[in-house]
Amino acid sequence: MNILVICLGNICRSPMAEGLLLKHLHENHKFSDWKVDSCGTSNYHQGELADPRMLSTAKKHGIKLTHRSRQLKVEDFDEFDYLWVMDEQNYSDVVSICPSKKDKVDLISNFSKSYKGQMIPDPYFGDQNGFDEVYKLLDHICAEIVQGLNLKY
Ligand code: 4NP
Repeated sequence: MNILVICLGNICRSPMAEGLLLKHLHENHKFSDWKVDSCGTSNYHQGELADPRMLSTAKKHGIKLTHRSRQLKVEDFDEFDYLWVMDEQNYSDVVSICPSKKDKVDLISNFSKSYKGQMIPDPYFGDQNGFDEVYKLLDHICAEIVQGLNLKY
């Protein structure tokens, strides 16, 4: 199963979601079944590590993020089984690149039990608290996804 998690800049939410999915997969001994990557709908931060505030939040929880930002490309729609986005804007941006594969695109929260329909707010223009909130939300969602593996398709 190949999963691509996507946000706008690929320096805050989606690298954290990638790190958390990998952490929960390792802890649940399901790592070998999944390939996880992340990207952004924009190229604003191409090649950069995650935002220092996200790196700091991740480090507090013992997670080292090494991903470098890259932009979504049309080939990703073939390479990945699922394209999981953080909010409605990401959803329409991603679908507009390859409308025929829109069934692969969904909110990451829709694959959890308790957070269906929940948007992951963009923390970029806020303070450190916003990054900690995003971490908490994504941690719960990713834990539920890995525990339940309740994929809809
Ligand atoms: P992300 O956050 O989509 O969670 O990585 C953002 C990062 C950068 C920008 C916006 C959101 N930006 O406008 O540069």
